[in-house]
Amino acid sequence: MTQNNYKETDRMSDVISDEFHLLQMLSRFGISLGFGEKTIKEVCDEAGVDCATFLVVANYIKSGDEKVSLQADRVSVASLMSYLRQAHDYFLGFELPAIRRKLLEALDCSQKDEVAFLILKFYDAYMNEVRKHMELENRKIFTYVDRLLEGDKPDNYEIAQFARNHDSINKKLQELKNIIIKYYVPQGDTNLLNAVLFDIFNCEQDLFAHCEVENLLFVPAVQLLEQRVMAERSHKPVDDRSAEQEELSDREKEVLACVVKGMTNKEVADRLFISLNTVLTHRKNIARKLQIRSVAGLTIYAIVNKLVNLEEVDIS
Ligand SMILES: [Fe+2]
Ligand SMILES: [Fe+2]
Repeated sequence: MTQNNYKETDRMSDVISDEFHLLQMLSRFGISLGFGEKTIKEVCDEAGVDCATFLVVANYIKSGDEKVSLQADRVSVASLMSYLRQAHDYFLGFELPAIRRKLLEALDCSQKDEVAFLILKFYDAYMNEVRKHMELENRKIFTYVDRLLEGDKPDNYEIAQFARNHDSINKKLQELKNIIIKYYVPQGDTNLLNAVLFDIFNCEQDLFAHCEVENLLFVPAVQLLEQRVMAERSHKPVDDRSAEQEELSDREKEVLACVVKGMTNKEVADRLFISLNTVLTHRKNIARKLQIRSVAGLTIYAIVNKLVNLEEVDIS
């Protein structure tokens, strides 16, 4: 199994035993343990996870192969985004705070050790940076992609802009790790410090993979979605707006026909046995519904929609 890519017919338990890093991936896809002998496909179907997306991400985590971008057309953007969102929750709500707690314990900050204090400060600044990075993705990028998924492409933004400015947030963690290894001399038991260092190594790797899934898979998949939405938009009938346009009532059509025949508001009121105020209200509603205010424009509308004949209209 270690040589080949995972397939949907592989047993989920075998896959996890083969590559334990996939454990973290499971919860981000909303999959719980206890899958017995079930295959990847069966587990994904039961959890409502897109199996193709699961496999593409799992095989990337296993191999680290950058050619994963070529499979962007196989993934479900919605599934991948939900995975990334849950990964953000995991880093911000669980992994980074857990490392901080362990650091506090391992560094023994009660000793007023200046290096320990600076390491914690460095870590807090780092956590803030990651929080800003991920919250921006949740708020701005994922909201944009949600709109794309609904078939709406805002004109002033493209995912390529995100890709150009996307920092790798694992670099600073690498720096922190090196500072601890090189300059911190533990006061007593070194097991705690080694254990937290081990967690930082893991977290750094996990964050790197997270960013790479965004760069190599999420961005190209969203670009494909952008192209689809743009293509659908260009195939829509040009006069699509008129379909969404509010319909005129029968009374409004009558008023409109009178107006384009050149009748005054008073004449319209007399002809239709309604008050002058009612005529004015109808005219206001007609202008609002059609977004046409000029008599020339209303005349064209009335002729196109066969409310009047050309001979009847006042074109003087
Ligand atoms: Fe992210
Ligand atoms: Fe990111």
